[in-house]
Amino acid sequence: MINRREFFGKAAGALAAVSAITSGDTLCAQSAPSTVPPSDQINLGIIGPGSRGKSVMRAFLRVPGVRFTALCDIYEPRFDEARKVTGEQTPAFKDYRQLLDQKGLDAIVVSTPPCLHEEHVVAALESCRHVYGEKDMALTVPACDHVVATVRKTGKFYQIGTQYHYAPWYQEALRRIHSGKLGQVTHIYAYWHRNNNWRRPVPDPKDPKLEHLINWRLYKECSGGLLAELGTPRSEFRKPRIRSLTRIRDRDGRRGLLERWARNAG
Ligand SMILES: NC(=O)c1ccc[n+]([C@@H]2O[C@H](COP(=O)([O-])OP(=O)(O)OC[C@H]3O[C@@H](n4cnc5c(N)ncnc54)[C@H](O)[C@@H]3O)[C@@H](O)[C@H]2O)c1
Repeated sequence: MINRREFFGKAAGALAAVSAITSGDTLCAQSAPSTVPPSDQINLGIIGPGSRGKSVMRAFLRVPGVRFTALCDIYEPRFDEARKVTGEQTPAFKDYRQLLDQKGLDAIVVSTPPCLHEEHVVAALESCRHVYGEKDMALTVPACDHVVATVRKTGKFYQIGTQYHYAPWYQEALRRIHSGKLGQVTHIYAYWHRNNNWRRPVPDPKDPKLEHLINWRLYKECSGGLLAELGTPRSEFRKPRIRSLTRIRDRDGRRGLLERWARNAG
């Protein structure tokens, strides 16, 4: 059983993606022990408790003391679905700004489609809450830069959720690479087999807004496509661990945002 001080203490060590505990001036006060309320409960809010969001909720709720005290989604059926996960009548809002206005929230989970990550993550950080956000950080390099600048400005933690990052087989592969057993790695071939359809059923297929909301993966304005959706966790593996690899292509040899990102960040 860990208390909230240990939770955030551990988080500080574990937040590998982008974290800013800076010694300089930041917009938000740091969580020094003196500011930690006596309660050991950690109150989370979630923006976008869809498919992934509810899985993340279940995972967080396995940590003793964690509770979701606010939900936000623009699609109302999600409220009942998410309340089934929390097991209580958790307050729910249709506008994320209302959620961020709630007092007592320690951190925000952002699990909306990627085209909204910049807006939601930046707003949550600027409300002086820590953020756990689903991948991808954002869909363009300037949007990612904005998120990183906001992390620095606010001094809050921001972790990006990436499937398998901590999986034992990933860790073992990295251990073998770093031990030098494989020599210099010059090429990684990563793939992902998918047996189900990305198109999800829509209650009213004639409603184009609902179609875009539910099937956002199929539309360019909200999705980075296969390379971003499925390629990120696979190529994330190479960076920052294997810095010499800078080319990322999809199956058809196309370069994309990921390669640009690798060139800029590598
Ligand atoms: N880490 C992983 O392994 C993993 C796996 C699957 C998905 N994901 C990521 O998780 C995110 C969500 O994917 P998903 O499959 O759960 O999608 P989803 O469509 O099931 O869930 C997104 C939710 O956001 C809601 N939403 C949309 N616009 C909103 C707004 N303006 N305000 C509030 N809520 C809004 C939707 O109604 C929906 O409930 C994506 O970024 C995806 O890439 C990550």
